[in-house]
Amino acid sequence: MQHQTVLVLDFGGQYNQLIARRIRENNVYCELVPHTIALEKIKEIAPIGIVFTGGPNSVYEKDAPDIDNDIFKLGIPILGICYGQQLIAKKLGGEVISPKTREYGKIEICYQKSVLFENVTKNNICWMSHTDYISKLPAGFMVTATTATCPCAAFENREKSIYGIQFHTEVNHTVQGDVILRNFLYAVCKAKGDWTMHNFAREQIGQLQEKLLGKKVLCAMSGGVDSAVAATLIHKAIGKDLICIFVDHGLLRKGEADEVMEVFKDKLGMNLFKIDASKQFLDKLKGVEDPEKKRKIIGKEFIKVFEVEAKKIGAVDYLVQGTIYPDIIESGKGVSAVIKSHHNVGGLPTVVDFKEIIEPLRDLFKDEVRKVGEELGLPASIVHRQPFPGPGLAIRIMGEVTLEKIKTLQDADFIFREEITKAGLDKEIWQYFAVITSTKTVGVMGDYRTYEYVLALRAIHSLDAMTATWARIPYDVLEKISNRIVNEVEHTNRIVYDITSKPPATIEWE
Ligand code: XMP
Repeated sequence: MQHQTVLVLDFGGQYNQLIARRIRENNVYCELVPHTIALEKIKEIAPIGIVFTGGPNSVYEKDAPDIDNDIFKLGIPILGICYGQQLIAKKLGGEVISPKTREYGKIEICYQKSVLFENVTKNNICWMSHTDYISKLPAGFMVTATTATCPCAAFENREKSIYGIQFHTEVNHTVQGDVILRNFLYAVCKAKGDWTMHNFAREQIGQLQEKLLGKKVLCAMSGGVDSAVAATLIHKAIGKDLICIFVDHGLLRKGEADEVMEVFKDKLGMNLFKIDASKQFLDKLKGVEDPEKKRKIIGKEFIKVFEVEAKKIGAVDYLVQGTIYPDIIESGKGVSAVIKSHHNVGGLPTVVDFKEIIEPLRDLFKDEVRKVGEELGLPASIVHRQPFPGPGLAIRIMGEVTLEKIKTLQDADFIFREEITKAGLDKEIWQYFAVITSTKTVGVMGDYRTYEYVLALRAIHSLDAMTATWARIPYDVLEKISNRIVNEVEHTNRIVYDITSKPPATIEWE
């Protein structure tokens, strides 16, 4: 089925993926594309609306991202946000100035009559992050919102269906920002709301069935959300012709490997094989303390184990990858500095004898993947699982990885997660886990002196793992966690709480 599409033209702003996600949340399919997209391509896609995002530049800067003027002649509704609005102004004959002061944060705004602000309270709060503003309107435009310092916080040319807002509707701090975006999609672009995960799952299963029936398909399951949902979609389409391999490197959270087998093999009846390679991984990690070395060893070993299994299976037609839309968007951009070498299943194509890669989730954002998982009947414990790094607990064990440290960490981490859930914080906190440090300290238990490991707790709020702030867990919850861990878990006598954000720290400790 062909969905209605909105194109989001990327001018480099920090909230760009968020804009795309917000549009999708309104049941409208959208794609985030570079602002350099050819006009011919836009015509071919025939979007019902176009959004220009914000961006860090000033429109008069040399090499500032630009747009072909003919885009305004296509007759497709346009919404410019922040830089996007200023660009519309400049291109259509208005003027933009750079005052000395910046408008940043939650700002009082006054909306006037506009289709965009239908059912939005007139005197309201919006989120601003800009220096430049529009000082002269292009011909045919009128101002539809103002703030104390920004005379043109929104403008429009209703006849041409071109709208601009200086503030960020996509950020939660803009009160009723969701209503404004919805007005653009439904009142201006006449969206039908045909993008739902129920439809997606149904259509995908149908399409996968057509494409894959009678073929041999191989999937590496990690227990993570993406591979779980990708595998389940394909399993619904072709049943036993999908072969799944789950490599247990012995560095998973407590109970995780058993849960994966129970859900996917026992309940769903998947053709799933667990390879217990924990001894092999532990042997390779013996005596290794350097975080990068640990990551590399695990990545390499994973491929090796998989290769042996794949050889047993022989040639397959398709290899499944759990690639999701942000991976596609990000791979189109420049490569940033390697802070940590991430291990995912990226190396598998080199060791599997296959004809084609299949990526059933390549159009979906993470929250959409979760919704598809729910549609397919996967349990919340799998669908709402927090991110877990490929190298597993190895990068939460400082220094050498030993069986004793793995056990201590698994038990402590389990208590931490259990108490966070009991306190009702599990949906709110993006990622939370325990870390075992390489430091031992003196403690006293009963009348005895103890000398055991210091454990750290890490809990953060984040949107996309690029930045993070540490979670303000109530003291009484922290106290309960600390008491339980020290009392119930062997080899630890001291608990500390990590109060660093990212940057400057990373989320994981190694
Ligand atoms: P950092 O520590 O870089 O982590 O701030 C950012 C996010 O990525 C996860 N992470 C990984 N995920 N393979 C993965 O699939 C990895 O090697 C890896 N290392 C870190 C981390 O848990 C956090 O969510």
